[in-house]
Amino acid sequence: MEKININGIELAYERVGKGTPLILLHGFPLDHDAWEQVIPLLENDFDLIVPDLRGFGSSTTTHTPYTMDDIASDLAGLLDHLKVEKTAIAGHSMGGYAALAFARIYSERVSGLGLVSTQALADPPDRKEGRYKSAAEVEEKGIDGVVTAMTTKFSSDVQIQRTARKMMEGQQPAAYIGALKAMAERFDSTSLLASSAYPIVIIHGTKDVLIPIERGHEMKRMISHARFVELYEAGHLPMLEAPQETADGLKHLA
Ligand code: MLT
Repeated sequence: MEKININGIELAYERVGKGTPLILLHGFPLDHDAWEQVIPLLENDFDLIVPDLRGFGSSTTTHTPYTMDDIASDLAGLLDHLKVEKTAIAGHSMGGYAALAFARIYSERVSGLGLVSTQALADPPDRKEGRYKSAAEVEEKGIDGVVTAMTTKFSSDVQIQRTARKMMEGQQPAAYIGALKAMAERFDSTSLLASSAYPIVIIHGTKDVLIPIERGHEMKRMISHARFVELYEAGHLPMLEAPQETADGLKHLA
């Protein structure tokens, strides 16, 4: 992977393909490998920019708290480095929260938005509290508890659970702690969606138990021009459970 220094961290990314620029953002607590199966299906249509978000994969993090807006700023720095002025951006779950933050702050740089298994709402107080508890647990005992809790919620497919577990086990505790707090503090993005004019694709699995598909339907109701791709057999990991349908959905951002 290539790396750049930005905002006091090293940000790692892959760049592959030709066409409309499209950033693919992974979810929590994964890394760019989550998109591995989708990348070959998109590389003939897009100039794909696939980073490890700060702390994950080969990217480093600081130990000071950060926000989704800081992640968005990392991405803007990456685009500056690559001399990409405008891009489509698609995020899975936490990556969707980061994509929404990017679209809020750098709206003039966005040509399209892909929202995969994600939501526009901020955390309600109990969820927020749960995230801080999880962060404290990781600080004290390491990542095992969170990894185990998330594995079966990601997908009902045992092979995909194994793939996700391996990716989760490869991440540093500091990445979990930083991202849990950043997710807890994220803004509500519903007003942003209602006023957006660029193409938007919402992709959601009907069997998602981490972010129920109703959150996807709610976003669709707010954005009349959005395309909704409902994946009948997928849980929370469409890019691994239904890579072709996920790629086909994202092609509407070309
Ligand atoms: C993710 O998959 O990125 C997380 O489950 C999102 C969340 O916890 O809200």
